[in-house]
Amino acid sequence: MDGESDATPRDDSRPRPSRKTVLRAALAAGVAVPVSLAAVPALARGSVGTGSAPELTPSCDDGDHPTPAQIEGPYFKPNSPLRTSLLEPGTQGTRLTVTGYVFGRACLPISGVLLDFWQADTNGAYDNTGFKFRGHQFTDARGAFTLTTVVPGLYPGRTRHLHVKAQAPGRPVLTTQLYFPGEPRNNTDSLFDARLLMTVRDAGGAKEAAFDFVLDVAQSPTPTASPTTAPPGTTWAVGTSYRAGDRVDYGGRPYVCLQAHTAQPGWEPPNVPALWRAA
Ligand SMILES: [Fe+2]
Repeated sequence: MDGESDATPRDDSRPRPSRKTVLRAALAAGVAVPVSLAAVPALARGSVGTGSAPELTPSCDDGDHPTPAQIEGPYFKPNSPLRTSLLEPGTQGTRLTVTGYVFGRACLPISGVLLDFWQADTNGAYDNTGFKFRGHQFTDARGAFTLTTVVPGLYPGRTRHLHVKAQAPGRPVLTTQLYFPGEPRNNTDSLFDARLLMTVRDAGGAKEAAFDFVLDVAQSPTPTASPTTAPPGTTWAVGTSYRAGDRVDYGGRPYVCLQAHTAQPGWEPPNVPALWRAA
């Protein structure tokens, strides 16, 4: 029993070329994206030097629906290590690299997004005592991420998949799963959702996959203040949105926030050095 049998509505609609895809191509082509451009209409950068007027903020309604959520399953553990590679000495399995970007609803890349990945090993087993094949990272200034790992093995009842939690700074967590095309079990796993298919290609005995997330984060050409902030010096609390620099008390000790996020169980300040530093 894998505990992940609660079906969510399935959508077999074919992915359509979208504004997100176009933007991804521009980003992948090496177009410089300064941090400040996160507050500029995404497609405007394509107009630089062309003499044409920049396009207004894309409506993002041409297929860029937010990445659908999926159940967490029974194997998530908080406090994963900060790392982009889940490979360790002696790791068995077909090497897999997953790259992509995280966008908001206006198709603008989001930097500093917390991505927490966990998966089965090549034999289909989760490490529930340690942190093998578990790791979190943050998108860079271009909204990009890279995960280095191995192709997860199959286990009873499920098709091949990766688990991930994605959280834009100060926003709710999106819990979802990513899938591999061409897997026979995609047709029988009730959790499978074609909208969560990565593109995967062979690369000299390894696999290279790509997936872009679209988080349900409102974006506008002008920066907007975070709607919820923590009062200074209060006691750390689940559900509170913290910004970098916020100070809290936890267990009688002061901490300062290093990375904007919404607190959740398991992310207590002493447990997540990526998010909190003892003040
Ligand atoms: Fe799983």
